[in-house]
Amino acid sequence: MKFIAVKLFCYLFIITLFAASTSADEPAVDPKDKLIVETVLRLKSFDLESSAKGKAAVIRYLKAQPGTDQYFELIERFKPIEIVDGLAAFSLQHSTETSGVRGAELLFSMQREKTLLEAIGGKDPVQAVAAVTLIGHAGGKRTPKLLMPLISEGKASLAVRTAAVTAVGRTVDGQHALLELVTSGKLANDLTFAAANILLSSTKAMIKTEAAKHLQLPATADAQPLPTVAELVERQGDVANGERAFQKKNMCIVCHKVKGEGKDVGPDLSEIGSKLSREAMYVSILDPSAAISHNYESYAAVTDDGLVIVGLLVSETDESLTLRTQDGITKKLAKASLDEYEKLKVSLMPQDLQKLLTVQELVDLVEYLLTLRKVSAP
Ligand code: HEC
Repeated sequence: MKFIAVKLFCYLFIITLFAASTSADEPAVDPKDKLIVETVLRLKSFDLESSAKGKAAVIRYLKAQPGTDQYFELIERFKPIEIVDGLAAFSLQHSTETSGVRGAELLFSMQREKTLLEAIGGKDPVQAVAAVTLIGHAGGKRTPKLLMPLISEGKASLAVRTAAVTAVGRTVDGQHALLELVTSGKLANDLTFAAANILLSSTKAMIKTEAAKHLQLPATADAQPLPTVAELVERQGDVANGERAFQKKNMCIVCHKVKGEGKDVGPDLSEIGSKLSREAMYVSILDPSAAISHNYESYAAVTDDGLVIVGLLVSETDESLTLRTQDGITKKLAKASLDEYEKLKVSLMPQDLQKLLTVQELVDLVEYLLTLRKVSAP
């Protein structure tokens, strides 16, 4: 131990000598801290608690460098509880990326999954869905126990409950629990699509067969039943055909703009390929209420004189509510003039668009949407 401490001291000394002349490639990190961290990682049996200076440098480094390989390596090795909140925040921000899942796995291994459970109960709906998603990826056997209550109690938002179905469905135990809800008629109707997708694509033949007796996916325009999302993502589509489908009358351009064309009832989709994965794209089209984007909440308002206005929330202040209606018209409503207003739990986007599309058109459409990407700045 003494030897290591001496060794570290020597390193620190050398670091101090060289630090001034070392140019930092990551400006947020103190180059001294960086060298200490590299040293600490090289000393196989170094005890972080034995060096206050070393520990302080490691913590500073972790705070400045979330998500790097060294970040995860350091946390895995030293499990410093000081960074738990930061690690949870990082993971929630990157819930659909490998780094976020790796962070969540570390939270579980440090027995700090509570940080994720708190986010589910918190005020931010996007964080709540992110936390459920992370538990699904990192919770393993613990996932059903942690998330089944969300599904059976039905108090959480539809987006959270849908994410919970998907998360729980990643384990065999979870699939059994979902099947049990289905066969006993206790699964909420608004979760049918999500549950059908999981159970009808189960690798366990028994689950698949049993589920098929109770659940089926909606039919498409050519009277073919919709394949599960798991099957759809394996298919390749034709971009040009997809673009034509998108522009068909009454289909998508009546509500969405792409590169300046179309109406803006729903969000502009010009860069949607950079935002959603292939899987998320299918879910957004086939189960829109489950995937309501945080920024696109819809409200229904009734004015004093009985006018009903339904639209996307553009902005809200203490005094007013600005909605964009289904005709693409923006209306600013004084709250004092409203009899009532409430946030809608369902999307303005039709729930049964698959009826207007053949399976192939749907696949083509998604292929097209995935090409709509952010153009990186020159
Ligand atoms: C009646 C209007 C309407 C029609 C028709 C419609 N959408 Fe939507 N769409 C919306 C609204 C509103 C949202 C905003 C989020 C929500 O409420 O689900 C949305 C959201 C989406 C999203 C998610 C966007 C995001 O930023 O996450 C995608 C993808 C999408 N729509 C694709 C389509 C496609 C493809 C079609 C045609 C097959 C279509 N929509 C038809 C209104 C519509």
